Order: sequence, then C-alpha cells, then structure tokens
Amino acid sequence: MKHIGILTSGGDSPGMNAAVRAAVFAARAQGITLYGIQQGYRGLYEGNWDELTLDKVDAIHAQGGTILRTARFMPFQDSARRQPAIDQCVANCAGKIDGLIVIGGDGSFRGAQDLTNHGLPCVCLPGTIDNDIACTDYTIGYDTALNTVMNQVDAIADTARSHDRCMIIEVMGNKAGDLTLYGGIACGATAVVLMEHGGYRFPEEGEMDAETKARFESDLVARVLKAKAAGKNYFLIFVAEGITGKKDKNGKTRYPGGAEALAKALGDATGADARCDILSYVQRGGRPTARDRVIATQMGDYAVGLLARGISNRVVVIHNEVIMDYDINQALKMPKGLSAADYGLAWRVSL
Ligand code: F6P
Repeated sequence: MKHIGILTSGGDSPGMNAAVRAAVFAARAQGITLYGIQQGYRGLYEGNWDELTLDKVDAIHAQGGTILRTARFMPFQDSARRQPAIDQCVANCAGKIDGLIVIGGDGSFRGAQDLTNHGLPCVCLPGTIDNDIACTDYTIGYDTALNTVMNQVDAIADTARSHDRCMIIEVMGNKAGDLTLYGGIACGATAVVLMEHGGYRFPEEGEMDAETKARFESDLVARVLKAKAAGKNYFLIFVAEGITGKKDKNGKTRYPGGAEALAKALGDATGADARCDILSYVQRGGRPTARDRVIATQMGDYAVGLLARGISNRVVVIHNEVIMDYDINQALKMPKGLSAADYGLAWRVSL
C-alpha cells in the first residue's frame, strides 16, 4: 500500500488534528504518501484531496477542530443514495488511494465498513466528544470536552452560589450520558439526569406522564428540597441532551435537547430560582488536553501501521491504557455501557 487517504467525519473533536499529524509521520516512515481528504466523505465523493506534507501538519496537534474540516455526508445516511455514493467514492480512489483512515463516530464507521466491503480498505479511529463508542474506553476529544464542561460549570457555580440559584445545565453527548455523569461528579452536581440507569424521557412540552412525574418528584424535587433544608443555597442539575428525545421533522434526534422545560418544572415545584444553561458548541472546540493529544497520536500512528501491513476493516481503540484494534463489524455490535457504580457515586457525593 503506497497511497493512503485520511478524513475526519461527523462532529469535530479536539485531538483529531493530532491523529492526522501522527499519521503523516507514520506514513512517511513507511514510504507511504498520505492524502488529506476535505470535509469527510464528501471530499471522497467529490475527489477533493491533497497530499499532506510535514509542513502542513506542523503544530496542529495543539489546535482544536480539524484542519481537514468535517461534514455529515447526507447520501451515506439515505438508503436510496447510499450505494451509488459508495460506488462513486471507490471509483474516485481507483489507482490513487489504496487505503483510508476514517476518524469519526460509529455512523462514520458504517461508511468505512461499506467502503471496505466494496474494495477500499479502511481503518477507523474513534473521534467524538460523546465517548459513545462501545469498543473503546475513550474516544478522541472526550477528555477535552469533559474538562471544558468542568471549567464552564465551575464558572456557572460561582454565579449560582452568589444568586442562590438552581442551574439546570444541559450537556452534549447525543445518546450517551458520559459527559453528563462525569461532568456532574467533577463539579459536585446536586443531581445528574441521564437516559442510562432507568433514566427517563422528559417531555419538551405538555404534561409529564405519571411515571415520569413520579421519577421527577422522587429524584429531582425531593433532592433539591433536601439540599435546601440542609442549608445549601445553590444547585447544579446536570441533564443529558438526550433525555428530552427532541426530534426534527424527519424524526431524527435534534440538538440541543429541551432542558428548558425541565428547568421550568423544577423551578415551579421547588420555588427555586431555576435557570437553564445549554452549554452548547463550546464543548466541541478548544485546545486538546494532553490525554487527547497522546491518545490521538498513538491511534494515528497505529492506524497507518495496520494499513501498511494490509490489515483493514478495523477500529483502533484504547482499552486498559493499551492501544489495540477490533473488527468493525464486531465493534458496532458491542453494547455501550455506563458505570452503574459511578452513577450511584454521583448521587452519594453531593447534596
Ligand atoms: O456528536 C457530537 C455532538 O456534538 C453531539 O454531542 C450532539 O448531539 C451533536 O454532535 C450536535 O450535532 P450538530 O453539530 O450537527 O448540531
């Protein structure tokens, strides 16, 4: 294999650049030319790529975002357009790109799986702030996002404490509660509201159903009142974006969720001055932490090694601090977990 392409797909995440930079060094060491494909699968479909040389990746390990830019490529998400789009991508690469590194989330892995099956060998790296990929302990970007959440909420806590407020903080994560749970633990949250561990859907508008109402009262209202009675004057309620199940007109989950409704209900029920703060896209940007830079560098280097040895259809992961790889088909079937013990801990260590 002498020509490899690399792309970033889906939501950007801090550390993607470090992975690209490491891949450039690894490819160079193996006599492989590495091409940077612009805007994810769109660039593959349109034949939009350039050779990545050392000068182009100088110092990018310290920058958030992705120098390759990214996109959610709609033809890959539409069953009628998917196959022709895959064929077009494979045809564009013929004689020019013999293997591909895809950095993104599990939706991007499905694209890589199809491309591999149609003749373009792919290796994937988990790149998303959500940490929602079951086969790896950490995804590239998660640690930076978690630190961003912590820093933002520490600042929100200063003003909440000054004004005796109850802050409902909606945290990103798509369908996963990792950022919410561990952000909540890191910030001493009064409560964490997740979809995992019996979490419930909170209606964006209208009445709560009886079950939701019971949970809302036993978990949140009781918790805030108890904290108030114990003398606490401010409350931080971490809410995962997914709990409202907010959908767009095509039935797809839409960001942001609807934590405003929860803030209003909690304010009404407890008499607290409740405000909603949707942390939003600040969570996706920023300079990557050391951990993300290191993991991304290890994974970018490892991915080139796999392709150079003729190995493809793999996801590179970190498990117990060791970089290893799984078959994509197997990786996509693994169930995503979230520690029940840490969920219990989040509720035990705070009022
Ligand atoms: O996957 C990363 C993520 O930021 C999720 O946490 C969020 O649900 C989604 O992307 C937002 O996507 P978009 O950039 O399309 O609004």
